[in-house]
Amino acid sequence: MRILVVGKGGREHALVRALVESPGHPEIFCFPGSEAIHELAKPVPADGLESLVAWMRGNSIDLCVAGEESYLVKGPGLANLCASAGIPCWGPPKESAQLEASKEFAKVFLLRHGIPTARACACDSYEEAVEAIAGHYPTVLKFDGLAAGKGVAVCPDEATARAFLDEVFVQRRFGDGRVLVEECLTGPEVSVFAAIVDDQYLIFTPARDYKRIGEGDTGPNTGGMGAVASRNLITPEMLREIEDRVVAPTVAGLRRDSLPYRGFLYFGLMLTPEGPKVIEYNCRFGDPECQAVMPLVHGDLAGFCLAGAQGKLRADLLSFDEGWSVCVILASAGYPESSHCGDLITGLDAAAPARVYHAGTSKTADGSWQTNGGRVLTVVAGAPTLTAAVTRAHACADQIRFEGLQRRRDIGILHFT
Ligand code: AMP
Ligand code: GLY
Repeated sequence: MRILVVGKGGREHALVRALVESPGHPEIFCFPGSEAIHELAKPVPADGLESLVAWMRGNSIDLCVAGEESYLVKGPGLANLCASAGIPCWGPPKESAQLEASKEFAKVFLLRHGIPTARACACDSYEEAVEAIAGHYPTVLKFDGLAAGKGVAVCPDEATARAFLDEVFVQRRFGDGRVLVEECLTGPEVSVFAAIVDDQYLIFTPARDYKRIGEGDTGPNTGGMGAVASRNLITPEMLREIEDRVVAPTVAGLRRDSLPYRGFLYFGLMLTPEGPKVIEYNCRFGDPECQAVMPLVHGDLAGFCLAGAQGKLRADLLSFDEGWSVCVILASAGYPESSHCGDLITGLDAAAPARVYHAGTSKTADGSWQTNGGRVLTVVAGAPTLTAAVTRAHACADQIRFEGLQRRRDIGILHFT
């Protein structure tokens, strides 16, 4: 089997590795990939979606796996182009990927199908947003578009709300778009992933992401500074409630709205006192949750994704470890405001008992690894208990060094209530 994976981050490194380790040992190609991914997958010479899909057709690719969301909604859409070319794609078409690309689209979908979520109001201007907030703080403001994880502000007071509205409507930092003013929910967050194949689904191991840069969950939001994954992260009763109130109605809603879906769907949830509520949908796996979850997935991921892209949910091809997995992000100096490149990375071999996925690295002329900005590495370790997994992940992460390294030492230790 010949598989092409689209994307370049730590999530794609983990996906590529899981696909490479699938029993049939498929041949993996990537676009654009990274230098670390290129050690497992051959890079494809393409300069855009059209040439990528033409290359896939000319090179007998059996399956395209969409790692990163942007390609799903860019131009005609990756999955749409694959469909026209007759190439099975694990990832939804552009129309369905609006669930992630437009927060307003997602909100209307949630309300239409009676899926629990925060109340919200879409606003076209600074003044309209101030009026919608109506002095109720804390409030949550969301830019209605893809903003690389920067488009959401939880505002404790008027000053922070006005600063965010200024970024959106005055500085146009994210481009053109509206703002959703949303009710602020409380409770622990959990990320639930389902593989959806038309009207069927399979729920993967749930995970929890540590979003803020600083220990004790302080400082600005990031793409995620670490994650914990386990079937036991939430009770079986809560998982059942999430399935009944959120996952199943979402899959039914997609069918009812004629939105085709074959791929991973990520449910960002808050477990509020009134039950689980959807904060966001993402039409992909989480990053870094994917790096934590993948080592817990056993079986034939390549066969599962191919069958799914062809319309068959083959749950029998996978099984899920009962243990715990902890992943720790090592980020570059300055992240998330800025990032730094070219710092030499040492200790990768000593961290070997853990799985190390590269998110932002490049190779020096002599073949050493150096930082390439943003989140640099993900160190993942598993064990039957949370405590053992935490100890292993942090001990392995301790081995790795580079100038300006940022890391949270409370990943897996700080619990959210
Ligand atoms: P999002 O990009 O929508 O996942 O939002 C980023 C983060 O903002 C979430 O992980 C939450 O921590 C927080 N957040 C988003 N929506 C809400 C909400 N309605 N109430 C409280 N916190 C929220
Ligand atoms: N870790 C959050 C995300 O992937 O969106």
